[in-house]
Amino acid sequence: MERSTNWRWERPVLGIESSCDETAAAVVVDGRICSNIRYSQTEHSLYGGVVPELASRDHVRKIVPVVSRALKDAGVGLGDLGGISVTQGPGLVGCLLVGISYAKGLAAGASLPLLGVHHIEGHLLAGVLSNPSLEPPLVALVASGGHTDLILVSDWGAYEMLGRTRDDAAGESFDKVAKMLELLEEGQTVMGGPAVSRAAVGGNPAAFDFPRGLMNVDGFDFSFSGLKTSVLYTLRDRSPEQNAESLSDIAASFEAAVVEVLAEKSLAAAEAAGTGTLLVTGGVAANGRLRQTLTSSALARGVEVVFPTSELCTDNAAMIAAVGGFRLGRGERSGMNLNANPRMELPGIRGMKR
Ligand code: KG4
Ligand code: ZN
Repeated sequence: MERSTNWRWERPVLGIESSCDETAAAVVVDGRICSNIRYSQTEHSLYGGVVPELASRDHVRKIVPVVSRALKDAGVGLGDLGGISVTQGPGLVGCLLVGISYAKGLAAGASLPLLGVHHIEGHLLAGVLSNPSLEPPLVALVASGGHTDLILVSDWGAYEMLGRTRDDAAGESFDKVAKMLELLEEGQTVMGGPAVSRAAVGGNPAAFDFPRGLMNVDGFDFSFSGLKTSVLYTLRDRSPEQNAESLSDIAASFEAAVVEVLAEKSLAAAEAAGTGTLLVTGGVAANGRLRQTLTSSALARGVEVVFPTSELCTDNAAMIAAVGGFRLGRGERSGMNLNANPRMELPGIRGMKR
């Protein structure tokens, strides 16, 4: 594949993201973010996790105002756009379909090029939105609510899977532990990571010796389900009073276990691949402890570690517009038969498939 050091496109691209519980739209021109609007759903807090049917309905309510606002904030009309990109997958099918249907309608109405894009490629390109000089080859850790992938990026668009979680995603384990610790608040999002981090403040990260899944096993796969179960058993085996007393210690010890594995495996992958650069992206990359740990240990190991800004780590549409700019600029287009692909594979991926 020809090398694509220039992932940017000088035409404005409207990106639309609706794969889970955020309705988001953004305009990106030539790698510059002109607007980035995100509405985060909160009704799921009553149920402790995203309810797909409710999520789809909320996207239907929010997609029109969110897109209008993104265009208005960017100071562009549909006629100024070079194209529209929309998340095609992976994600919840009913949620994806809302964004896709709306994007199709806009593209057809304004005779604009349309492209369905991969959500995880969005997380990868969030790296260059924050750090325009970032250039492959690099190793990327994508840690989100649905994925924990270590990917060798030999070029934008040319990827190799080095390792991935065998069970829960890192973000999913934060979400489940937040629920166990009863940290999710009514009327808030069900994103457990920030709640666990807040609870961990002042806690002793060495108070509980939670398991580090696959830490001493060769290869770059992850496993977080044993850690989650260990937290569950710890809570079950102690009294409610003891648990309340050690809340910050449990949260800090859990967070330390996740961070240690993510940091160690991704640094080892960057060293093994010899790329010298590690991009850490996806919602979990917003975690303060992970950022600190990686920043301090990477230097000594000769690896440069790069994070998107926290805002661009969690789901957003600027990253979807960035992928749109990259691929629309190369002439790629989707037809009006574009359909949601809940289990979509990253385009250009080589390596293991499960
Ligand atoms: O990338 P993202 O916004 O959505 C998905 O594609 O899944 O990631 C959301 C995940 C959630 O599991 C959330 O708990 C986690 O990222 N997350 C965090 C933090 N902020 C978000 N995990 C740990 N620490 C954080 N500060
Ligand atoms: Zn995501």
